[in-house]
Amino acid sequence: LDDLLAEGVSGRRVLVRADLNVPLDKQTGQIADHNSASAPRHGTPDGMRIADDGRIRAVLPTLDALVRAGAKVVVCSHLGRPKGAPDPQYSLRPVAGRLGELLGAPVHFATDTVGDSARSTVEALADGQVALLENLRFNKGETSKDDAERAAFADQLAGFGEAYVDDAFGAVHRRHASVYDVPARLPHVAGRLVLREVEVLGRLAGEPERPYVVVLGGSKVSDKLAVIEALLPKVDRLLIGGGMCFTFLKAQGHEVGTSLLEEEMVETCRNLLERSEGKIMLPVDVVAADAFAPDAAHDTVAADAIPAKRLGLDIGPETVAGFAAALADAKTVFWNGPMGVFEMPAFANGTRGVAEAITKTDAFTVVGGGDSAAAVRALGLDESSFGHISTGGGASLEYLEGKTLPGIAALED
Ligand code: 3PG
Repeated sequence: LDDLLAEGVSGRRVLVRADLNVPLDKQTGQIADHNSASAPRHGTPDGMRIADDGRIRAVLPTLDALVRAGAKVVVCSHLGRPKGAPDPQYSLRPVAGRLGELLGAPVHFATDTVGDSARSTVEALADGQVALLENLRFNKGETSKDDAERAAFADQLAGFGEAYVDDAFGAVHRRHASVYDVPARLPHVAGRLVLREVEVLGRLAGEPERPYVVVLGGSKVSDKLAVIEALLPKVDRLLIGGGMCFTFLKAQGHEVGTSLLEEEMVETCRNLLERSEGKIMLPVDVVAADAFAPDAAHDTVAADAIPAKRLGLDIGPETVAGFAAALADAKTVFWNGPMGVFEMPAFANGTRGVAEAITKTDAFTVVGGGDSAAAVRALGLDESSFGHISTGGGASLEYLEGKTLPGIAALED
């Protein structure tokens, strides 16, 4: 971005790919983000609310710099996974409102991505003004596997900029038109967020200071398998909680009641445990409930004694203490995925306890993944007590796996 700013962008149209894929809350009630509790609520006619605005705030340094330099800033992003056609529940309109508030100036919202509204909105931009295009994924061409279809969409999108800035770290692992094909059509640079993410995650992928402890949670083992394989030789300890731990507990020979289970992954997990040289730590107790509900009856039970009709929704206190002890002397920590259903207060203690243990270490600590970052904020934890909170979920994991990420490769070209 500094290279582009040095060239001068005043009066030039700069297309910025951001990742404004924020969690939306259907309930008209409370905003989940405690940090934004005082902020006005934004909603679509369908009553969608921004539950956590972390990803919007993360792109502000890049947008601020461009605005101050007098660029005409055209921002584009995806939101959720609509199926290539307009779908009001995935509209970026509420995001435009919040972005405008954070920037301190209104953001002009185009009600389509590359159609008449987008064209007239972009044409009307004055120097230093910002426009946000409607959800990229309302267009088939954005995510198409067909190169020609993607190219046609990329041509239209690229027409809105004289230069392209990628600040969508959370989407750099996607070979999508706005991430991969547009930079081939315009002078392209990395934004401040992408640069910082790559610097920090690069430090973890290189020679992290030891002990290096990784904490993994979240619901699906299958999503994390590749990263577990890649990390095992590198880490000193790998602590596993969240919904994915039950497939590992099953692989250890325990019954897991009605807990989340990926039966077809049990054998793979058993194999991983055998090869892990004792590095993998699993829960020794869990909070087991009689339903997936905030007010469900629940008890803490040993991990090898989960009742047949109960499901584990959090790790238990003994596990939190064990994980905290395993983290205490760490010099590098990477955490991805909540330890339980932290959105429900009864099942938030595991995530809170582990997060607090991470902040108490002297380690360089990195939180990866939209859910864990949202958990940090939703639980009211101090964001500044972590070394870095990555905006990337899949992207940060794939980066640590050592994969070539299409969005990064396109910028390095
Ligand atoms: C994310 O939430 O990880 C990014 O915004 C990418 O979203 P996607 O997984 O729908 O491509």
